Amino acid sequence: SAAEKGGWDSFMDKEIHEDPSAVQRTLLGRLDEQGELNLDEVRIDEHDIKAIDKIVVIACGTAAYAGMVAKYAIEHWVRIPVEVELAHEFRYRDPILTPRTLVVAISQSGETMDTLMALRHAREQGSRVLAICNTQGASIPRESDAVLYTHAGPEVAVASTKAFVAQITAAYVLGLFLAQVKGAMFKDEIHQMLQSLQSMPQKIQWILDTQTQTVQRAAAQMVDAKSFLFLGRHVGYPVAMEGALKLKEIAYTFTEGFAAGELKHGPIALVDEGEPVVFIVPPERGRNILHAKVISGIEEVKARGASIIAVAEEGDKDVERYADIVFWRPQCHTLLSPLVDVVPLQLFAMYMAQSKGYDVDKPRNLAKSVTVE
Ligand code: G6P
Repeated sequence: SAAEKGGWDSFMDKEIHEDPSAVQRTLLGRLDEQGELNLDEVRIDEHDIKAIDKIVVIACGTAAYAGMVAKYAIEHWVRIPVEVELAHEFRYRDPILTPRTLVVAISQSGETMDTLMALRHAREQGSRVLAICNTQGASIPRESDAVLYTHAGPEVAVASTKAFVAQITAAYVLGLFLAQVKGAMFKDEIHQMLQSLQSMPQKIQWILDTQTQTVQRAAAQMVDAKSFLFLGRHVGYPVAMEGALKLKEIAYTFTEGFAAGELKHGPIALVDEGEPVVFIVPPERGRNILHAKVISGIEEVKARGASIIAVAEEGDKDVERYADIVFWRPQCHTLLSPLVDVVPLQLFAMYMAQSKGYDVDKPRNLAKSVTVE
């Protein structure tokens, strides 16, 4: 009903506007008086956590893209290998698991059949499972050895939005927790990172407050585009994948997400006069070498007549020069940037679907939670 939507046009609109609070609530109460990080339920003793030598993330759909972000952050902070695998692939092969492997199951609903079965597959082989889940007491957290709840609140729209930013936030918390237990980072560094994390809701809010009109106008302008390419590098890569997924899910536009470094290995052949290409541009600050690489990708695509949409940091002069449309992000730590970069792409998919006259909350053929095979 209209009342349930709290005055918003759709649940999706409401839930995108809950991105800042989803992040904030997932961070709430994670630091105790000793400054130690807390998870919700941990039935693994500290000795076993210290012994973890590999992480395997299992998930489907949007949750798997949150897992890809987790890989970049956790490997950087904790210095242990992190693999990310789709649950339906993982469960039907012979993954190498030991009691020292921590399997992280990410699921909004906690009921996705493939993720649940993959979790059982891992436990049968003696691995510990930690669930990142948005639904209290669902099957996946019930069957796990540890749980980190995302406190995004109930998500109604089929396309996941606030749960995604909450999952990424929870993955950061897990990374910092492991760094703390394993002594992989100094206490000060962990605190600094937590502080940066705590500033993210406000940065997301800035996007909602200042970029929405630009995004809405862009969607109206692009409504007849036949297909979209989404390109990003490093943590911008999963963001590109998620942006592409959102648009195909609800606007039924043919989209592909790629790692921007793959451009010359295929996607550039698809680039056509006037067709849109979306780039997630890393910050230039700190002489980030990836910035120049993404800009040169933009130049190449531009030279072939594509129209460029960029998600970029405020004040990026190169982006200003080449992009046709820019969704600006405020300055933030590169590893945390997916939390802000995905927001305009969520809005973009929603406005595209709306402009095409579709029901954004209930896309055709899709279910909120896939509990069958
Ligand atoms: C379905 C939903 C997606 C979701 C995926 C995984 O495909 O439409 O939005 O990302 O399932 O769901 P889960 O509840 O496990 O996160």
